[in-house]
Amino acid sequence: MFRLSRIVAVVAAAVLAGCNSGPDPAQRQAAVEAFATVQKVFQHPRCQNCHIPGDQPLQFDQGLPHAMGVARGPTGHGAEGLPCSTCHGEANAPDSYGPHAPPGAPHWALPPPQQRMVTLGLSPPELCRMIQDRNENGGRDFAALLKHVSEDKLVLWGWNPGGTRAPVSVPHAEFVAKFRTWADAGGPCPTG
Ligand code: HEC
Ligand code: HEC
Repeated sequence: MFRLSRIVAVVAAAVLAGCNSGPDPAQRQAAVEAFATVQKVFQHPRCQNCHIPGDQPLQFDQGLPHAMGVARGPTGHGAEGLPCSTCHGEANAPDSYGPHAPPGAPHWALPPPQQRMVTLGLSPPELCRMIQDRNENGGRDFAALLKHVSEDKLVLWGWNPGGTRAPVSVPHAEFVAKFRTWADAGGPCPTG
């Protein structure tokens, strides 16, 4: 009897641990490693040129201020008289327009001024917290974030940026897979 009850206790403890704890150390470690790839994408120029603290979008790999004094405006869609859609259409301009034609994708804009979703200049732990902070990310849970990085047209544009712009350096499918690994473990953040 002693042995049986002991086995029962050990099994019960193992089941409880499996249910109650967060990711085990190996899963956590794999998730933090996956986040390094997520960070690389979020802070690639094709992404962070719009995810900025200031009010003027950035352009090129160097992140220079957008020409023509373009501004975020009251909703992120540009100043009253000069919306982004004046120049940015729903798709990239044809190659015949040359390498400096305005790129395009549906709902081309900056995030709104009261929720800037800044990635530029954040350390890895800060970025990790921002992405999952619902006060900063537009109220998205992990499922909504995963959908956004998988399907959003501005995100997908990063892999088809038009002109001579370099696309995001990590393949989109790999990025989504790493995002999922990180999210499935509850979004653990790197330390230090
Ligand atoms: C042209 C500007 C633009 C580009 C380029 C862009 N974004 Fe965004 N991004 C936005 C806007 C605007 C929103 C807010 C839209 C909304 O809330 O529906 C947003 C929201 C997000 C969000 C949800 C909020 C958050 O901060 O967690 C994520 C995630 C995101 N973008 C990731 C990316 C990634 C990754 C790339 C590059 C592959 C990228 N974005 C490129 C404009 C841009
Ligand atoms: C008057 C026309 C015009 C307006 C208005 C305009 N843009 Fe642009 N934008 C351009 C042109 C042209 C380019 C390409 C410049 C080049 O490659 O030489 C560009 C490039 C960009 C890029 C650079 C992409 C990259 O990674 O290099 C971003 C981001 C961008 N615009 C965001 C915006 C946002 C957001 C708005 C509205 C708040 C906006 N633009 C309004 C003309 C405009």
